[in-house]
Amino acid sequence: MARVTLRNISKSYGQLEVIRDLSLDIEDGSFTVFVGPSGCGKSTLLRMIAGLEPITGGDLMIGGTRANDLDPVARGIAMVFQNYALYPHMTVEKNIAFSLKMAGYGRAEIARRVAEAAEVLQIGHLLGRRPANLSGGQRQRVAIGRAIVRDPAVFLFDEPLSNLDAELRVSMRSEIAQLHQRLTNTMIYVTHDQTEAMTMADRIVVLREGRIEQTGTPQELYEDPANAFVAGFIGSPRMNFLPARASGSALELPGGARLGCAGDGLPRELSLGIRPEAARPGREGGGLRLEMEVALVEYLGGTRYLHGHLADGTAMLIEARSAAGIRPGDRLPFTCPLEALRAFAPDGARLRSLSLLPAEPETA
Ligand SMILES: Nc1ncnc2c1ncn2[C@@H]1O[C@H](COP(=O)(O)OP(=O)(O)OP(=O)(O)O)[C@@H](O)[C@H]1O
Ligand SMILES: [Mg+2]
Repeated sequence: MARVTLRNISKSYGQLEVIRDLSLDIEDGSFTVFVGPSGCGKSTLLRMIAGLEPITGGDLMIGGTRANDLDPVARGIAMVFQNYALYPHMTVEKNIAFSLKMAGYGRAEIARRVAEAAEVLQIGHLLGRRPANLSGGQRQRVAIGRAIVRDPAVFLFDEPLSNLDAELRVSMRSEIAQLHQRLTNTMIYVTHDQTEAMTMADRIVVLREGRIEQTGTPQELYEDPANAFVAGFIGSPRMNFLPARASGSALELPGGARLGCAGDGLPRELSLGIRPEAARPGREGGGLRLEMEVALVEYLGGTRYLHGHLADGTAMLIEARSAAGIRPGDRLPFTCPLEALRAFAPDGARLRSLSLLPAEPETA
C-alpha cells in the first residue's frame, strides 16, 4: 500500500501542454477518482503515474520515494485498461499468471495467487478458456485478476467499464468498490462518467484542461461546488443555470421572478444554479417561485423529468415524483428552497458572499 503525491506535475507533447502545474495528495488506501471531460488529461495523468509516459516537470512520489525515473515494474503498480489488453492465445489462467511467471515466481506461489484471485473475482470456472470465449464482463474480471495477483501497492484503472453494457457497468461498479473494501490497496480510477465517480469514490478529483478544478468527497462536490464547471459536471441530470441581475437589494430573474439579496462586491449579472431534484412543481413551499413552459415529460418509473423553458427562453429541467395531468405546452409553476440555490459570477467562480432572501412583498 502506498500514498501517491503529485507535486507541480506538468506534461507537454511538443508545444502542447496537457497537464499544467498539478499538485495532489492521494491518501494511502483511498479510492480516488479522476473525472472530467474527454481530452482533459485523465489518461495522461494515470499513464505518468504508471510509468508509461515520461513526466515533463515536477515530482511524482509513490510510497515516499521519488518515482519519476523508476521503471514501471519497480513502481509497485498494476493498471487495468479499458480494452482489457488480454493475450488472446493464452487461457485465462495463463493470462493471470503471466506477469508472475515473468517476475520469476515459483510454480506453487503462482498457483496459490491465481486461485486466490479467481476466488475473489468468481472466475474459477473460466480458468481454462481463452479470452475470445468470454463475455465483456468476464474479460474485465480477468484483466482485474491479472492486476490483483501482483498485489500492487497501487491499482490504476482507466475507464475499465466503458466497453460494457449499462447493466453490467452497474454490477461491475459495485464489484470494484467491494474489491477495494476487501483489498484496501490505494486505487486510482479514471472515468468521464460522473455517476461512476459519485458512487465509487472516497475522493473525486475534477479535471478540466489539465488542471484540477476541485477535489473533495462526492458530497462536498455536490453540495459545495467551487465553481459552475464542477456544479454542472457533478450531479445528474445536470444543474440548471439561470441568468440573474442584481439591482440594489433585489435579484431579478427570468419571467419577473425576484429574490432579495445581500453581499459585498456582487457583479451585476450573475447566474443562479438550481438542481433538478431541488425544484418542486406547484406553488407550495417557500423560496424561489418560477414558472416554466413544459416541452416534454420523461417517464422514468419512480420519477419524471420535466423539460421546458422559462419565459426568457432559458432551458429548464426539473424532477417530479408525480406528473399527473402535466402535458407539453402547460405553464407549470415550481419552487426551489433558497438554501438549495448556488450563485456564480460570470467567470464561473462561486459567489459565496451572496445571501439570498425571500422576495420583499410588492409595495403598492
Ligand atoms: N501521444 C500524444 N501526442 C500528442 N497529444 C496527445 C498524446 N496523447 C494525448 N494527447 C493529448 O493530450 C490531451 C489529454 O489526453 P488524455 O488522453 O489524457 O485525455 P483523457 O482525459 O483521458 O480523455 P478521454 O476521456 O477521451 O479518454 C488531449 O488533448 C490529447 O489530444
Ligand atoms: Mg482517457
